[in-house]
Amino acid sequence: MTTFDQILPITTEVLVAHRATIAQLDWLVINRDLNGRVRFIAPDQSRAVEALCIDVRTVYQALSERLAPHAYPVDAGLLYEASLELACQGASHYALNGIDNVRVVDRLATEANWSYIAPETKFIPRIVFFSIKGGVGRSTALAATSWSLAQAGNRVLVLDLDLESPGLSSALLPPERQPMYGITDWLVEDLVDNGEWIVSSMIATSNLSHDGEIHVVPAHGADHGEYIAKLGRVWMPKLLADGTRETWSARLERLLQALEKRVQPDVVLIDSRSGIDEIASACITDMGANLILLFALEGEQTWNGYRMLFEQWQRAQVAEQIRERLKIVGAIVPELDRVTYLQGLGESAYRIFSDTLYDDIVPANSGAIGPMLNGDGKWRVDDLVEGWNFDQADEGAPHYPWAVNWHRSFSGLRSLRGRLSTIDAHEVQSVFGSLIRGVSDSADLRNPS
Ligand SMILES: Nc1ncnc2c1ncn2[C@@H]1O[C@H](COP(=O)(O)OP(=O)(O)OP(=O)(O)O)[C@@H](O)[C@H]1O
Ligand SMILES: [Mg+2]
Repeated sequence: MTTFDQILPITTEVLVAHRATIAQLDWLVINRDLNGRVRFIAPDQSRAVEALCIDVRTVYQALSERLAPHAYPVDAGLLYEASLELACQGASHYALNGIDNVRVVDRLATEANWSYIAPETKFIPRIVFFSIKGGVGRSTALAATSWSLAQAGNRVLVLDLDLESPGLSSALLPPERQPMYGITDWLVEDLVDNGEWIVSSMIATSNLSHDGEIHVVPAHGADHGEYIAKLGRVWMPKLLADGTRETWSARLERLLQALEKRVQPDVVLIDSRSGIDEIASACITDMGANLILLFALEGEQTWNGYRMLFEQWQRAQVAEQIRERLKIVGAIVPELDRVTYLQGLGESAYRIFSDTLYDDIVPANSGAIGPMLNGDGKWRVDDLVEGWNFDQADEGAPHYPWAVNWHRSFSGLRSLRGRLSTIDAHEVQSVFGSLIRGVSDSADLRNPS
């Protein structure tokens, strides 16, 4: 019996076997619907050529027999559409591996497809703090980074987008400073065109830093109100006056632009939700982030999770659009055997980056005539195919971790705000220094000493 993961390999196999028919089509869409069943969508014009129609039917018939529960009877499985654009509308799509004129369109029950990567924002740097597993010190590190960048004189805007488990704002703001509204309120009010009215009442300044400013936008306001009833509506797309549909992540982007315009920060730090989650997808792929920090604990669960994500980017052929913005952060690095631990973390990260996101290192002439080496045994530079890859020991590479060190004063804290209000620059540097320096350099900010 065929299962979901066999759909694409079998489809590739069948289409390659019928290469001659497929090549006659301007384009062909493999539409994988909400139930994971495959249809063909072919160009309307191809219907005019009877022989071609019969051949396409034959290919679908062959595919349908192989995919069985994941396909339709031939009469229900073949659709026609006027253009490729119309056939792909409203869903993520990518070229089927190795076949140029065939696109896979994936219809998902959620909007988080992870496969469309918004281009990097060119204005105020946006930095996303993400982790595949929760509870790895991501919010703590973000709070400490904002503290340190603000102390150095930068204007920092912090967003708590961990809407399903909010908490960052209480680390940065005492109860009496919490603003009246938060991101969840805005996303709900925006649906009834009431968002503009609350923007000014959802930003508060933290009193933790002395020399700079930390502007905090919480997930909810001082009074969380009917949080669950609101949260269940934040994902709603908005129907616009012209009949088009604005996704919830496009609405979020609009909010971010309004906040940036109001605060005029030097940098925006975003606490994303952890895991392969809808909010995380919006933070990582839709908001034009310039730097995406991937917090990681050494261990199978972490790397299996990142591998799933990276493979999706590889499959959807968007690796090039996102890989330069990624950076691994060693989360809560243990005191004991620190160097060995970090080395292991770097090796594990290198393995999955080179398997999925880095280009293979291939000598251009590795074919019939054999490799060409210089006298010193190295590849001649002009014999190497240009590629995007790194040495394992390259500190500037995405896989090479910046470290956040374990420190007893942060372990099992009852109040992070209490801790941050008494901390000094030396302590922050000793725990978070490598992360803060990296963030500050990458966003061209005033550097904390
Ligand atoms: N550098 C550190 N050293 C020791 N303990 C830490 C450190 N950073 C965070 N912790 C502790 O780890 C726990 C989780 O921290 P935090 O809430 O920042 O993680 P998180 O990744 O944001 O979690 P979540 O996924 O739930 O949002 C807390 O108890 C915190 O005090
Ligand atoms: Mg957190």
